Amino acid sequence: MSHHLIGWHLRDAADWQSALARSLHYGAGDARHEKPAAGRAICLMFFNPSLRTRTSMEVAAAQLGAHVTSLSAGSGTWHMAFEDGVVMDGQEAEHIQEAAGVLSRYYDAIGVRVFASLTDYEQDRSERLINRFVRAASVPVINLESAFWHPCQELADASVITEHFGGDAAGRTFVLSWCYHPKALPMAVPNSAVTMAARLGMHVTVVRPDGYELDDGVMKQAQSYAQKSGGSVSETDDRVAAFDGASVVYAKAWSGRGVYEDSVGEASRRAALREWRVTSEVMRRTDDGVFMHCLPVRRNVVVDDAVLDGPAAIHLRQAEYRLYAQKAILEKVWDLSPE
Ligand code: CP
Repeated sequence: MSHHLIGWHLRDAADWQSALARSLHYGAGDARHEKPAAGRAICLMFFNPSLRTRTSMEVAAAQLGAHVTSLSAGSGTWHMAFEDGVVMDGQEAEHIQEAAGVLSRYYDAIGVRVFASLTDYEQDRSERLINRFVRAASVPVINLESAFWHPCQELADASVITEHFGGDAAGRTFVLSWCYHPKALPMAVPNSAVTMAARLGMHVTVVRPDGYELDDGVMKQAQSYAQKSGGSVSETDDRVAAFDGASVVYAKAWSGRGVYEDSVGEASRRAALREWRVTSEVMRRTDDGVFMHCLPVRRNVVVDDAVLDGPAAIHLRQAEYRLYAQKAILEKVWDLSPE
């Protein structure tokens, strides 16, 4: 079986369960003395900015005893070309075929962050860019956020929810709330969040304006998980009813599908949706619900200060779990798990 981690939906359910258990293990106590990855090395290649993913993976690798190198593509490395058959007479001086091939000879895994194009839906949906890396690499590739999935975030999110509800989130309501954002953003985090909560057996509601539906295939994947876990998945544009009885409010901005055909029109439509923001009033409709966000978050645009600084917010513990989840992921791709 491939040891790549591109999306949890491509791994066995047992892999997901054991990684979740290991992430919770690390979250429960100080295990920094364990160095099962001593002598190994990982290279992290970022085509887009990052704070949490980069630093949590660097610290996770170091705590497990591995060497880590982080690279920002095009800034300290050569600009890279992805496409087969490309005539490289422009800015790109290196093809990822060579870059991934070379790095595979130095490192035992390669982490890659490469966001959605937001210009070519089929390219984004098929994960063409990260899959080019997979094709060229001969060591495991870890997705540090691609066009459609963010498996590192997904494992951290499942961990903090499981911890918060004492191991039993099943049957609780998880609301994924679309929020206004001044920039068009990809769908990787919402795709991962909706499938993650369905796997946990939660009743998932995606509340979003018309035109901001998630991908049909992703929703079908979430429904398939819900069928097995006893959860459910639904969508609504009713911002009043959606939050009633919620145990978790997960805020996230993402672009409407229209961005692929008409980015100017999508931006103009989005600009009229500024009221889609998580406020204290929204949180009062929940059943003592907690607030989550993957970060970075725009204060008083996506969510009000009063929510982020109030007792319902667990976003910092959520971010802390990024470190524990990264350790679990490194164990998984390197077969280091003790069980
Ligand atoms: N949530 C997340 O992936 O954060 P960064 O973009 O800072 O890595």
